[in-house]
Amino acid sequence: MAIPARLAWAVDVLGVRPGERFLEIGCGRGVAAELVCDRGGRLTGLDRSESAIKAARVRNRRHLDAGLADFRLGALEDGIGDGGYDKVFAVNVNLFWTRSPAAELGLIRAALTGSGALHVFYEPPGRADELAAKVGGALAEGGFHVTTLREGNLLCVKGEVTAPA
Ligand SMILES: C[S@@+](CC[C@H](N)C(=O)[O-])C[C@H]1O[C@@H](n2cnc3c(N)ncnc32)[C@H](O)[C@@H]1O
Repeated sequence: MAIPARLAWAVDVLGVRPGERFLEIGCGRGVAAELVCDRGGRLTGLDRSESAIKAARVRNRRHLDAGLADFRLGALEDGIGDGGYDKVFAVNVNLFWTRSPAAELGLIRAALTGSGALHVFYEPPGRADELAAKVGGALAEGGFHVTTLREGNLLCVKGEVTAPA
Protein backbone atom coordinates (compact mmCIF):
# COMPACT_ATOMS: atom_id res chain seq x y z
CA MET A 1 0.00 0.00 0.00
CA ALA A 2 1.30 3.46 -0.88
CA ILE A 3 2.11 5.58 2.18
CA PRO A 4 -0.22 8.62 2.36
CA ALA A 5 1.78 11.87 2.12
CA ARG A 6 0.37 13.12 5.47
CA LEU A 7 1.81 10.11 7.31
CA ALA A 8 5.22 10.24 5.59
CA TRP A 9 5.42 13.96 6.43
CA ALA A 10 4.29 13.42 10.01
CA VAL A 11 6.97 10.81 10.67
CA ASP A 12 9.62 13.07 9.09
CA VAL A 13 8.53 15.93 11.35
CA LEU A 14 8.69 13.66 14.41
CA GLY A 15 12.44 13.19 13.76
CA VAL A 16 12.55 9.66 15.14
CA ARG A 17 15.71 8.72 17.02
CA PRO A 18 16.37 5.02 17.77
CA GLY A 19 15.09 4.06 21.20
CA GLU A 20 12.74 7.03 21.60
CA ARG A 21 9.34 6.16 23.05
CA PHE A 22 6.23 7.19 21.09
CA LEU A 23 2.52 7.09 21.80
CA GLU A 24 0.27 7.42 18.76
CA ILE A 25 -3.33 8.35 19.51
CA GLY A 26 -5.78 7.15 16.85
CA CYS A 27 -3.16 4.96 15.16
CA GLY A 28 -5.70 3.56 12.69
CA ARG A 29 -4.26 0.67 10.67
CA GLY A 30 -0.72 1.29 11.93
CA VAL A 31 0.86 2.90 8.86
CA ALA A 32 2.66 5.72 10.70
CA ALA A 33 3.48 3.26 13.49
CA GLU A 34 5.31 1.05 11.02
CA LEU A 35 7.37 3.99 9.73
CA VAL A 36 8.30 5.03 13.28
CA CYS A 37 9.42 1.50 14.20
CA ASP A 38 11.29 1.11 10.86
CA ARG A 39 13.40 4.04 12.12
CA GLY A 40 14.09 2.40 15.47
CA GLY A 41 11.40 4.10 17.54
CA ARG A 42 9.43 2.19 20.18
CA LEU A 43 5.73 2.83 19.76
CA THR A 44 2.45 2.24 21.55
CA GLY A 45 -0.56 2.71 19.28
CA LEU A 46 -3.93 3.49 20.86
CA ASP A 47 -7.22 3.40 18.97
CA ARG A 48 -10.85 2.97 20.02
CA SER A 49 -11.64 0.94 16.88
CA GLU A 50 -11.22 -2.81 17.24
CA SER A 51 -10.85 -3.31 13.49
CA ALA A 52 -8.13 -0.63 13.31
CA ILE A 53 -6.15 -2.24 16.14
CA LYS A 54 -6.46 -5.69 14.51
CA ALA A 55 -5.19 -4.30 11.18
CA ALA A 56 -2.35 -2.42 12.91
CA ARG A 57 -1.24 -5.64 14.61
CA VAL A 58 -1.24 -7.55 11.32
CA ARG A 59 0.68 -4.81 9.51
CA ASN A 60 3.27 -4.51 12.29
CA ARG A 61 3.78 -8.21 13.10
CA ARG A 62 7.58 -7.98 12.80
CA HIS A 63 7.72 -4.89 15.02
CA LEU A 64 5.48 -6.57 17.60
CA ASP A 65 7.71 -9.65 17.55
CA ALA A 66 10.80 -7.46 17.97
CA GLY A 67 9.21 -5.72 20.97
CA LEU A 68 9.23 -2.31 19.28
CA ALA A 69 5.46 -1.96 18.87
CA ASP A 70 2.42 -2.48 21.05
CA PHE A 71 -1.21 -1.75 20.09
CA ARG A 72 -3.98 -1.12 22.61
CA LEU A 73 -7.72 -0.92 22.09
CA GLY A 74 -9.20 2.04 23.94
CA ALA A 75 -10.25 5.66 23.89
CA LEU A 76 -7.79 8.35 24.92
CA GLU A 77 -10.28 9.81 27.41
CA ASP A 78 -10.33 6.47 29.29
CA GLY A 79 -6.61 6.77 30.07
CA ILE A 80 -3.23 6.15 28.56
CA GLY A 81 -1.59 3.68 30.93
CA ASP A 82 2.16 3.90 31.48
CA GLY A 83 3.88 7.22 30.95
CA GLY A 84 7.46 8.01 30.06
CA TYR A 85 6.82 8.88 26.40
CA ASP A 86 9.28 11.14 24.57
CA LYS A 87 6.72 12.03 21.91
CA VAL A 88 2.96 11.71 21.65
CA PHE A 89 1.31 12.27 18.28
CA ALA A 90 -2.00 12.04 16.47
CA VAL A 91 -2.85 12.34 12.78
CA ASN A 92 -6.33 13.46 11.70
CA VAL A 93 -7.86 12.83 15.13
CA ASN A 94 -10.55 15.47 15.54
CA LEU A 95 -11.03 15.67 19.29
CA PHE A 96 -8.29 18.32 19.57
CA TRP A 97 -10.41 20.93 17.80
CA THR A 98 -14.06 19.82 17.83
CA ARG A 99 -14.45 20.34 21.61
CA SER A 100 -12.33 21.27 24.61
CA PRO A 101 -9.56 18.66 24.89
CA ALA A 102 -8.45 19.93 28.31
CA ALA A 103 -8.89 16.59 30.11
CA GLU A 104 -7.12 14.63 27.36
CA LEU A 105 -4.26 17.17 27.25
CA GLY A 106 -3.82 16.68 30.99
CA LEU A 107 -3.45 12.93 30.47
CA ILE A 108 -0.98 13.46 27.62
CA ARG A 109 1.12 15.95 29.57
CA ALA A 110 1.34 13.53 32.49
CA ALA A 111 2.42 10.74 30.12
CA LEU A 112 5.27 12.77 28.56
CA THR A 113 8.83 12.98 29.87
CA GLY A 114 10.01 16.39 31.10
CA SER A 115 11.46 17.22 27.68
CA GLY A 116 8.67 15.57 25.69
CA ALA A 117 6.39 16.96 23.00
CA LEU A 118 2.92 16.44 21.56
CA HIS A 119 2.47 16.71 17.78
CA VAL A 120 -1.05 17.02 16.38
CA PHE A 121 -1.21 16.67 12.59
CA TYR A 122 -4.05 17.41 10.19
CA GLU A 123 -4.66 17.34 6.49
CA PRO A 124 -7.45 19.92 6.63
CA PRO A 125 -9.45 20.55 3.48
CA GLY A 126 -9.05 24.34 3.43
CA ARG A 127 -9.45 24.95 7.17
CA ALA A 128 -5.82 25.02 8.23
CA ASP A 129 -5.97 28.50 9.81
CA GLU A 130 -9.03 27.62 11.88
CA LEU A 131 -7.55 24.33 13.06
CA ALA A 132 -4.16 25.88 13.83
CA ALA A 133 -5.83 28.53 15.97
CA LYS A 134 -8.14 26.14 17.81
CA VAL A 135 -5.58 23.41 18.45
CA GLY A 136 -2.77 25.87 19.23
CA GLY A 137 -5.02 27.72 21.68
CA ALA A 138 -6.04 24.52 23.43
CA LEU A 139 -2.43 23.33 23.74
CA ALA A 140 -1.30 26.70 25.09
CA GLU A 141 -4.12 26.59 27.68
CA GLY A 142 -2.97 23.09 28.55
CA GLY A 143 0.48 24.43 29.45
CA PHE A 144 2.37 23.52 26.29
CA HIS A 145 4.77 25.80 24.38
CA VAL A 146 3.23 25.89 20.93
CA THR A 147 4.72 26.10 17.45
CA THR A 148 2.99 25.50 14.12
CA LEU A 149 4.38 23.98 10.94
CA ARG A 150 2.84 23.92 7.47
CA GLU A 151 3.72 21.93 4.37
CA GLY A 152 1.27 22.46 1.49
CA ASN A 153 -2.13 21.51 2.88
CA LEU A 154 -0.59 19.69 5.87
CA LEU A 155 -0.55 21.14 9.36
CA CYS A 156 1.36 20.24 12.52
CA VAL A 157 0.69 21.89 15.86
CA LYS A 158 3.53 21.02 18.23
CA GLY A 159 3.32 21.46 21.97
CA GLU A 160 6.49 21.13 24.04
CA VAL A 161 6.46 20.49 27.76
CA THR A 162 9.55 22.67 28.29
CA ALA A 163 10.12 25.93 26.43
CA PRO A 164 12.79 25.57 23.73
CA ALA A 165 16.10 27.28 24.67
C1 LIG B 1 -9.43 9.67 10.63
S1 LIG B 1 -8.76 8.26 11.42
C2 LIG B 1 -7.01 8.55 11.20
C3 LIG B 1 -6.19 7.30 11.29
C4 LIG B 1 -4.68 7.53 11.06
N1 LIG B 1 -4.13 8.35 12.12
C5 LIG B 1 -4.45 8.17 9.71
O1 LIG B 1 -4.15 9.36 9.63
O2 LIG B 1 -4.59 7.43 8.72
C6 LIG B 1 -8.99 8.63 13.15
C7 LIG B 1 -8.65 7.46 14.04
O3 LIG B 1 -8.64 7.93 15.37
C8 LIG B 1 -9.38 7.03 16.19
N2 LIG B 1 -9.90 7.84 17.30
C9 LIG B 1 -10.70 8.92 17.21
N3 LIG B 1 -10.96 9.44 18.42
C10 LIG B 1 -10.30 8.66 19.32
C11 LIG B 1 -10.18 8.66 20.73
N4 LIG B 1 -10.80 9.57 21.47
N5 LIG B 1 -9.41 7.70 21.33
C12 LIG B 1 -8.79 6.75 20.57
N6 LIG B 1 -8.88 6.69 19.22
C13 LIG B 1 -9.61 7.64 18.60
C14 LIG B 1 -10.45 6.45 15.28
O4 LIG B 1 -10.91 5.19 15.71
C15 LIG B 1 -9.67 6.34 13.95
O5 LIG B 1 -9.01 5.10 13.82
